Amino acid sequence: MRKTVPYFFQMKAEQERIAMLTAYDYPMAHWAEEANVDMILVGDSLGMVVLGYDSTVPVTMADMIHHTKAVRRGAPETFVVVDMPFMSYPTVDIALSNAGRLIQEGGADAVKLEGGESYAPIIKAITQAGIPVVGHIGLTPQTATQLGGFKVQGRDFETAKQLMCDAHALEEAGVMGITLEAIPAEVAKRITQEVTVPTIGIGAGKECDGQVLVIHDMLGMFDRFKPKFVKTYADIKSIAVDGIRQYVTEVKGQSFPGSEHEFSMSKEVVEKLYG
Ligand code: KIV
Ligand code: NA
Repeated sequence: MRKTVPYFFQMKAEQERIAMLTAYDYPMAHWAEEANVDMILVGDSLGMVVLGYDSTVPVTMADMIHHTKAVRRGAPETFVVVDMPFMSYPTVDIALSNAGRLIQEGGADAVKLEGGESYAPIIKAITQAGIPVVGHIGLTPQTATQLGGFKVQGRDFETAKQLMCDAHALEEAGVMGITLEAIPAEVAKRITQEVTVPTIGIGAGKECDGQVLVIHDMLGMFDRFKPKFVKTYADIKSIAVDGIRQYVTEVKGQSFPGSEHEFSMSKEVVEKLYG
């Protein structure tokens, strides 16, 4: 059974941790569902880990809808959150129509967007239209250039204070959850205690109500870049490359395909055809 919004508030109340993971296509969504993740995130990180861009900025609404549809088909019983891509929520009107498309066309259960206090009016409009919203503060990759790169946020007095304000503003605006990315564990703990909505951390320590990781990072799908907060649970790249290498070797050495991979026909027909 697909979980619903109140269920995640209940999990926070009962201090049962929320395990969230990204997925971007049918097989990965299927794996996540089979492994019982509580929520799947179709993150705009897909721009980097699936499409090979060096930031999330080039990701479009069409990309997000395309991948969300595949994820929904792979995980029909799992709560799916989808990221609103860069520049898809600059005003209330544009945000409403794009959030609506991600739900109606993509099949997601909720949308996620980056930004604090100043995005509260946009978030409020989306939630009031009946679409659950997950916030995202701290390191916000879509605006990493303004933040000075992919760096920890909220380490000094002023920025830590601002994060607290942002969290409260999002709560007030009606979010169903807040993603806390790359902030000190102390700040994440305090936010988690102060707000009634579930916090989901990535690089935000163990006191958050839930955790999220990028599936390509945690399964070791490639080795281009590994943030400090990632734990690698499997080494899929080396398994994959070993398998492919063996295939290449066997094709060249003519040991693949074997007779067990062949189709045959009766001797009489062969005779008739080819003498
Ligand atoms: O796009 C993404 O994968 C995310 C998570 C890192 C929270 O926003
Ligand atoms: Na994202």
